[in-house]
Amino acid sequence: MTNIELFDRRNSAVPRGVASATSIFVERAENAEVWDVEGRRYIDFAAGIAVCNTGHRHPKIMAAAAKQNEAFVHTAFQVVPYERYISLAERLNKLAPITNAKTILMTTGAEAVENAVKIARHYTKRSAVISFVGAFHGRSLLTMGLTGKVTPYKAGFGPFPAGIYHVPFPIEHHEVSEGDSLAALEKLFKADVEPEQVAAIIIEPVQGEGGFYIASKKFLQALRTLCDQHGILLICDEVQSGFARTGKLFACEYAGIEPDLMTIAKSLAGGFPLSGVIGKAEIMDSPEPGGLGGTYGGSPIGCAAAHAVLDVIEEEDLCARSTRIGARMIERIQQMKKRSDSPALGDVRGLGAMVAFELVKERGGNTPDPERTKALTAKALEHGLILLSCGIYGNTIRMLAPLTIPDAQLEEGLDILEKSLCEIV
Ligand SMILES: Cc1ncc(COP(=O)(O)O)c(C=O)c1O
Repeated sequence: MTNIELFDRRNSAVPRGVASATSIFVERAENAEVWDVEGRRYIDFAAGIAVCNTGHRHPKIMAAAAKQNEAFVHTAFQVVPYERYISLAERLNKLAPITNAKTILMTTGAEAVENAVKIARHYTKRSAVISFVGAFHGRSLLTMGLTGKVTPYKAGFGPFPAGIYHVPFPIEHHEVSEGDSLAALEKLFKADVEPEQVAAIIIEPVQGEGGFYIASKKFLQALRTLCDQHGILLICDEVQSGFARTGKLFACEYAGIEPDLMTIAKSLAGGFPLSGVIGKAEIMDSPEPGGLGGTYGGSPIGCAAAHAVLDVIEEEDLCARSTRIGARMIERIQQMKKRSDSPALGDVRGLGAMVAFELVKERGGNTPDPERTKALTAKALEHGLILLSCGIYGNTIRMLAPLTIPDAQLEEGLDILEKSLCEIV
């Protein structure tokens, strides 16, 4: 089967609503490399959208999953529980920047966010939730409501649950200062909802789909203070930024704040579907028995894989590696930005190996260039690099290489990026 044949079959059998960033079909994948059905090799700077921080098919993770496969695959934790779930919760409770934590495990990121909001509402006995413009929290009804980007995530899918409010995320070079964001919150409390009705503020410490915009230490600390003033819970959505992606196990650790609740998924289990909510025990214990859960939540194979992921992060010092990869990426992109024969690059930013840059219409300017951004991802794929765009303006390239990528492949990927940039001028 060729890529084109599969593409035709896909178009006939699968709705167009589930879009794919590339038109290639994978045959196999190993660490930072992917091979398509025609035998072409690619360097993977997408890692399954931040899921494979530990690379594709890490031998330790594969072995842990295989071993679990031999014992049992599913009993439902709500029917016959198992030790792996408990030991993973114990481990995450220790690792999260939350004192006296408890953890519930689910399957997807959206489910984690749904549950965090359920828990926050139950504990506070309040209903409103505040999120940010540009945020992405999932595709379920509640998480779509929390998401701060209309097309393609929300358009035509409403109405969304009541009691959700959006305030601007601070992005200095798009003329939204931290002061503006905090002022918008105060204005919201005056104009739309009294703070006593707000259960939670949910924020990605580094916006993912929204464009890899980093919430500063100062801003997260200000949110923490504001939440404390009004009895509002602070939820950090670490679904994309977690598990060493930013150079720390969780991005909110940079701010030195303690969230009340944290959502996790993606790289937690190295490709096996697993998610969770970690939170202060008192808050987590609020819902009645039976109020939380899900048939597949905390699947045994997911739990086994997650233990191996945490081992690998520690043994291979992936937090330090993430910082090194990020620094190298930024160094190379800054060099590309100086080239006169490549398109105009705008802001270059990153936290650890969560690195992004923008394509703009003119040098030194700020006008987004989504068409060239599209051309760049297509050209990079042609040259053997899987690259993702993101951002509310569609002009941001996000780099999510596995943290286990060998140096030579990192350079190879960056070389392809540079060559592709020069070819789309
Ligand atoms: C920050 C964040 N939250 C939640 C989600 C939703 O996760 P899932 O697609 O597993 O439902 C995502 C997915 O990209 C995300 O990046």
